[in-house]
Amino acid sequence: MTEHIQVDVEERVLRIRLHRPAKKNALTADMYGAMTAALERARSDEAIRAVLFVGSETCFTSGNDVGDFLQPRGVAGATFIKTLPRVEKPMVAAVAGPAVGVGSTLLLHCDLVYASENAYLRLPFVDLGIVPEAASSLLLPRIIGHARASQLLLLGEMLKAEAAMTWGLVNEVVPVGQVEAHALAKAKLLAARAPAAVQATKRLLKRAEEATVAETMNIELEEFSARLKSPEAREALQAFLEKRAPKF
Ligand code: COA
Repeated sequence: MTEHIQVDVEERVLRIRLHRPAKKNALTADMYGAMTAALERARSDEAIRAVLFVGSETCFTSGNDVGDFLQPRGVAGATFIKTLPRVEKPMVAAVAGPAVGVGSTLLLHCDLVYASENAYLRLPFVDLGIVPEAASSLLLPRIIGHARASQLLLLGEMLKAEAAMTWGLVNEVVPVGQVEAHALAKAKLLAARAPAAVQATKRLLKRAEEATVAETMNIELEEFSARLKSPEAREALQAFLEKRAPKF
């Protein structure tokens, strides 16, 4: 569908690689489509036991393609985002360099997250005149507390790998150049374990928040769509593309 998403299977692990180096792996509608198809394949194919998300050694993803946000077709990532919590099989992420926007929020739906020493998270939704998505407005304060969530979501501050681990968003930080191999090894371990027990355990871990996550995603997306059309967002997105500071 697009050369910017590469999907392969190794030892029952379905790997989804973000590969659009010229634009720091910014996600387009085609890329969301390819990732959604890969997740649906992971759901339906019994031979697949785990999913691995990975970018390059210097960049996970710069998040949604900012130019795409200005297209009138709506929120391109909505279907992908809604598919994330429906994946019964465990999902692992290998993060290096920036994980911006949806690059950060998709990690909240992964079961294990490994970060390179050069990795950092950033959620610049307010910078762009928009709001959080992927149930991050619910999950982030639950995991890290309201004060820290405000720091990331209201101020848009960067969160480096070590701090992300201390705050409980990342399992382990590994030396630069080793994160994919490390995360893949963990995904293979998961894939070799009793599959029904693994999936039932994941289901139990997620059970209490399943309905609220789905509800929150819908509420966020409604607000997100409204904000996207606002003069604030138009100005912020245009300013990004023109490489200037926005005027609010
Ligand atoms: N959408 C579209 N294009 C993007 C992009 C995005 N999210 N992120 C980066 N790019 C483009 C840049 O415009 C630049 O294009 P150009 O070479 O044609 O000028 C190219 O990718 C390289 O980006 P650059 O900013 O020069 O790389 P960097 O290493 O200095 O910084 C980031 C990397 C990810 C920190 C920075 O690009 C960034 O903050 N991007 C925007 C993130 C964002 O706001 N995402 C939306 C979240 S909701």
